[in-house]
Amino acid sequence: MSILIKNIKQLVQVYDHNVMIVKGEAMKTLPVLKNAYLYIEHDTIIEYGEMEYCEGIEAETIVDATGKLVLPSWCDSHTHIVYAGNRTSEFVDRINGLSYEDIANRGGGILNSAKLLQETSEEDLYNQSINRLEELIRMGTGAFEIKTGYGLTVEAELKMLKVIKRIKQESLAKITPTLLAAHAIPADYKTKKEDYIKLITEKLIPKAAKLNVSHYIDVFCEEGYFDLEDTETILKAAAKYKMQPKIHVNQFNILGGVGLGVKYNALSVDHLEELNNDDIEALKKSETMPVALPGCSYFLSIPYTPARQIIDAGLPIAIATDYNPGSAPSGNMNFIVSAACIKLKMTPEEAINAATINGAYAMGISSMYGSITRGKKANLIITKPLNDYSEIPYAFAHNPVDQVIINGQLKDI
Ligand code: NIG
Ligand code: FE
Repeated sequence: MSILIKNIKQLVQVYDHNVMIVKGEAMKTLPVLKNAYLYIEHDTIIEYGEMEYCEGIEAETIVDATGKLVLPSWCDSHTHIVYAGNRTSEFVDRINGLSYEDIANRGGGILNSAKLLQETSEEDLYNQSINRLEELIRMGTGAFEIKTGYGLTVEAELKMLKVIKRIKQESLAKITPTLLAAHAIPADYKTKKEDYIKLITEKLIPKAAKLNVSHYIDVFCEEGYFDLEDTETILKAAAKYKMQPKIHVNQFNILGGVGLGVKYNALSVDHLEELNNDDIEALKKSETMPVALPGCSYFLSIPYTPARQIIDAGLPIAIATDYNPGSAPSGNMNFIVSAACIKLKMTPEEAINAATINGAYAMGISSMYGSITRGKKANLIITKPLNDYSEIPYAFAHNPVDQVIINGQLKDI
């Protein structure tokens, strides 16, 4: 199998192999080749360059990309795409004045999704989830982190892990699973949170490690969910199994989760709608990726992550969808790139870096995904005719994608 894409108006995000992350000032640049070609064999990017050097290259499939741009596929480093049903009734409750917190306090929210998921068969859960994922591949996402966290019992969390494992085996997209058993306190443990934490540290983490699906651990570190001490207990237990943290912190309140994440060498700290100087200073001394989730801020009408403060401090940032039924029921990365520009005041270059190479870093895959680089996986977006990559965030809520190449396979939309 070989594919040659010719006459590419802009080949966007061409990086050397040693670029795994882009920080601060460097995020303002997007390396572009104009009037270019790109050659793929099997699942790998083999060669690219200006059209004048394309002569003599032959391939089984030729794509004429006249007037179109080619970018690396989006890397969505934070999703909860495996869930059952939806929460439209809570959506209406919020329109009518209830807050996300009010809904959680009366036993809804995450617990609602957990109840539904517990009652859903593994097969049905797989079918619902793979349909969502296939739709998003056609919208340009080529890699997905997927969390558990709507099981909240040993049995249901393992059911989620098995579904994620099957998606990983059967989908062409790159999947990285994360164990988020500490997503909410289950109703049965309302007055005995410590017992649920024990269940996670003594039963679920070892069982998940044995299944060998997830190398990442997540905790919702937030008031009313898991405090700093609970979070540390879970991170410590997971570290014994070499599970690296990717944690939910600072969504509504600052509990110190950023510093704790850094202490435990977190790959990413996600949300950060609230952020203080201590957090910035902790991140400066770390290899941890801060991740903004503008779809959640949009849907819940909460503050947007102060991306400017983060980038201007010389730090990197990634953006992701947080796709889930409660706080962000959209997995459209094109919209996220746009929201990053419009609401987080990131430039198109910064937003595209944040959604590709830095997203890949935040899921531990940037050596093989997230840029146009010889030897990396052929996960690509071929856009509709566009003048410039800035039109992607500019035309918000439009779909700029014409075709995608996923794991070396060309798909029409
Ligand atoms: O990232 N904050 C915690 N978890 C999800 C929301 C989950 C839900 O409401 O179902 C989030 O926003
Ligand atoms: Fe989330």
